[in-house]
Amino acid sequence: MEKKIAVIRGDHSSREFVRETLRVMDRIAEKYGHTFRYVDVAMGGDAIDRFGEPLPAAELQKCKECDSVLLGSVGGPEWDSLPGDKRPEKGLLALRAGMGLYSNVRPATIWPQLAPASPLRADIAANGIDFVIVRELTGGVYFGEHKTENNGTEEVAQDNMIYSAHEIERIGRIGFETARRRRKKLTSVDKANVLDTSRLWRKIMHQLKEEYPDVEYEDMLVDNCAMQIVKNPAQFDVIVTENMFGDILSDEASMITGSIGMIPSSSLGDTSNGVYEPIHGSAPDIAGKNIVNPMACILSAAMMFRYSFDMPEEADAIEKAVGAVLDKGYRTADNQSEGCTVLGTIEITDKILEEI
Ligand code: IPM
Ligand code: MG
Repeated sequence: MEKKIAVIRGDHSSREFVRETLRVMDRIAEKYGHTFRYVDVAMGGDAIDRFGEPLPAAELQKCKECDSVLLGSVGGPEWDSLPGDKRPEKGLLALRAGMGLYSNVRPATIWPQLAPASPLRADIAANGIDFVIVRELTGGVYFGEHKTENNGTEEVAQDNMIYSAHEIERIGRIGFETARRRRKKLTSVDKANVLDTSRLWRKIMHQLKEEYPDVEYEDMLVDNCAMQIVKNPAQFDVIVTENMFGDILSDEASMITGSIGMIPSSSLGDTSNGVYEPIHGSAPDIAGKNIVNPMACILSAAMMFRYSFDMPEEADAIEKAVGAVLDKGYRTADNQSEGCTVLGTIEITDKILEEI
């Protein structure tokens, strides 16, 4: 097959792990007889420096015209003092909105090899961690109006949290469908004891659950969910939640698996053209040192093969290779434990390539 893939190399250490991910994708192309054409797209700090804005329209257009998008991570201290709508993160939000990617899937799976790196007590980690967070990605407080005004005496800031019924319904369905393909349990997370958006969320979810009688359904308040994720993560199969709750819970969920450096993600809308990215940031503090873990980005490419290109064998090959490298005791600095060999970004990718 021939695929055109937009590549956003991102900022800081992102440039290193995206470069390594492309080596893995090239190896897959070679082994399985595919042709991948890469189209470079500027977004985030890189685009601010080159074009003065975080996602120029022409760059977004390139993404729309490709079969899929591989994204690193954006942001860094040099752009931190820019106003909110000029920041690198704004490029990411514009990409999600511009491509209509309302459904973000973030697996929280513990690689047994990395259990010693989990901050959870060993007996809790040993019960297994294998759930996915389905995060609504184009609504909620991220996309409501933001403003800061002076009321005469002091500054007052507000961020509007807004959800319409159809936005909840379409992500709710993805939650149920995802659960159906797994262990058939769905936890819908909200803050219905306080927020109107959550009360509407819960109402729509309760209507939907009638259509999915085979899926065990529960509501959970977000503060309780944050607690349950560290207390008993084995209880979860699929969590579906709104944008900001999903942002926070997915960082928490990644940490208990041993390292945020291992968690990929997919963002999809109504077509097969999606964005695949690690859930971690651009790690400016370790950029240029060849120590950043490339695995989350490499595993994101595997998700692209599986979900956008319908290439399950290719996806399996990557995931198995990562597992084999971990089995052999190779680690990056972020998830090392006693008796393991710590390798650099390039060297651990070499090991993955050997396994493929
Ligand atoms: C994520 C990130 C982004 C988000 C930031 C960089 C805007 O934290 O993808 O989780 O909050 O969505
Ligand atoms: Mg986040």
